[in-house]
Amino acid sequence: MLIVSGTASTAFGKALSSEMGCAPAETEIIRFPDGECYVRIETPLEGEDVVLVQNTYPDGNLVENLLLQDAIAEGKPASFTVVIPYFGYSRQDKAFKPGEGISSRVLGASLSRLPDRVVTVDIHTTTIFKWFGGKGVNVSAMPVLGKHLAGKGVDLILSPDKGSIDRATLAAETAGVAFDYFEKTRLSGSEVKIADKPLDVEGKTVAIADDIIATGGTMIRAAEQLREKGAAKVLAACTHGLYTSSALERLKPVFDEVISTDTLPSETSTISSAPAVAELLKR
Ligand code: R5P
Repeated sequence: MLIVSGTASTAFGKALSSEMGCAPAETEIIRFPDGECYVRIETPLEGEDVVLVQNTYPDGNLVENLLLQDAIAEGKPASFTVVIPYFGYSRQDKAFKPGEGISSRVLGASLSRLPDRVVTVDIHTTTIFKWFGGKGVNVSAMPVLGKHLAGKGVDLILSPDKGSIDRATLAAETAGVAFDYFEKTRLSGSEVKIADKPLDVEGKTVAIADDIIATGGTMIRAAEQLREKGAAKVLAACTHGLYTSSALERLKPVFDEVISTDTLPSETSTISSAPAVAELLKR
């Protein structure tokens, strides 16, 4: 097996290569003075099982992913898998208002054209795999996050909304702790409302587990309720620490700890999702 890492996922590709015990392929990836991307794969790929690892966020990385896919397909591999640790645009999975473009449909169709398989990590919703030509496979980092949270003495794991119930349940099951969830209404891109819910959290250590932290609004609103109800410690755990609009600076004073995985490298990405992906690739 050969692993080709794009520039958005170099560390993740390295972690995956080491998990799989295989060599990384040599590449040349540069940006021209006008910002356009150039890619070349130097390692011969013919007859190899090739895995490309490259995020699709922000937009420039999407173009790089597509160019690398083209170069790999030209190399005539025996099999071709694309791993997209953080799949951008997954949240626009339908037209919420008439006239909207459905971004996950566009990206799903484009990114699944050449490979045999597209592997994602905690994609926002697997319903969008209907646009991946039957090639989409998702793995979850929630078991590894759950294990980590168990080590932190967490008593309860909460989903901040109904959309993450399955994910947070998986984390709670792995941690062997109780589970509950909030109900969230999104008011705008950066504002959310979390309905008040009676919860017995006094003196407890509680973790909120979600797929993405973007502006941090969801996590902060949920934490406020837990603090009001007397939680002793509140932790934020997510697979993808996107941290837009200085989110991390606003999260730090609210949480005892903020934890994310390495799908998007940052100071909080202390846990690796690579072993979960490797397990799937080995299977
Ligand atoms: C959306 O439903 C996702 O699961 C996350 O809850 C959301 O992306 C978090 O966004 P933010 O941090 O901006 O509240």
